[in-house]
Amino acid sequence: MPGRLHGKIALITGAAGGIGSAIVRRFLAEGASIVANDLSRNVESVVAEAVGDVGGRAVAHVANHSNEREVAGMMRGVRESLGGLDILVNNAFAAFNDIEIAELEESDWDRTLDACLKGPFLCTKHAVPLMKERHGGSIVSISSVNALRAVSETAYTAAKGGLISMMRLVAADYAEWNIRSNVICPGTISTSASMDYWEQFPAGFEALRQMYPLGRIGEPDDIADYVLFLASDESRWVTGTVHTVDGGLMGGTKLGVV
Ligand SMILES: NC(=O)c1ccc[n+]([C@@H]2O[C@H](COP(=O)([O-])OP(=O)(O)OC[C@H]3O[C@@H](n4cnc5c(N)ncnc54)[C@H](O)[C@@H]3O)[C@@H](O)[C@H]2O)c1
Repeated sequence: MPGRLHGKIALITGAAGGIGSAIVRRFLAEGASIVANDLSRNVESVVAEAVGDVGGRAVAHVANHSNEREVAGMMRGVRESLGGLDILVNNAFAAFNDIEIAELEESDWDRTLDACLKGPFLCTKHAVPLMKERHGGSIVSISSVNALRAVSETAYTAAKGGLISMMRLVAADYAEWNIRSNVICPGTISTSASMDYWEQFPAGFEALRQMYPLGRIGEPDDIADYVLFLASDESRWVTGTVHTVDGGLMGGTKLGVV
């Protein structure tokens, strides 16, 4: 039986990271051809290992998704090496000394917004023409529950909220070309981005875990499986939407009234 992404060509940003590398493996297993982008050269070994384990076709492309020249070059490379583009996953991110607003340096705001919002802007801008050529496509952008409720990190929160608004408009602007755009808001996921912090505070981490009704924080595959659904034709009538994938965090826990 053909995979759920059989014949599709996908670009995944931040593919060397925890969630990005899980998406690479999931997409390969479902038959997609992949360009795996990251700022870090580690993406080359991620791709080599994934193809070795799962099989399929993937190329690594080291580029800064916040630099228009590099993004335009990457999209030319996608067309030349794989023939077009059906799926874009805006997943890459970085945050820089991101704290409450009165303490936040302008330069750290700028760098965080570049990494979390300008990157998805540029990748989407340069992906849309390729998707128009193929009469459709699916763009999946990774935001955060930080965009939906007050958590922490001023610049990251602003960028992830902006990402939701921007990608909803992309859905409306390009629906007539059958280009879909949807956003996922994960809760805490076990990657180095979160665990490097929480490992310093085991008691705080336990309190965090207890906030999750399903009793655990997420794994990268919890997000990769949902990205797969939104990227595939199974979600062909879904666009302009925001999906919390968060172990029930945003739903809340019941009050302990007896
Ligand atoms: N881990 C969590 O708890 C969590 C929670 C909510 C949302 N998210 C979101 O999930 C996505 C993936 O997060 P993760 O936990 O896998 O993070 P990660 O740090 O493991 O991976 C992020 C990747 O993005 C790459 N990157 C950074 N700047 C880049 C740039 N300018 N160009 C290209 N690549 C760049 C990094 O090199 C890294 O490999 C992010 O959008 C993040 O905001 C994560």
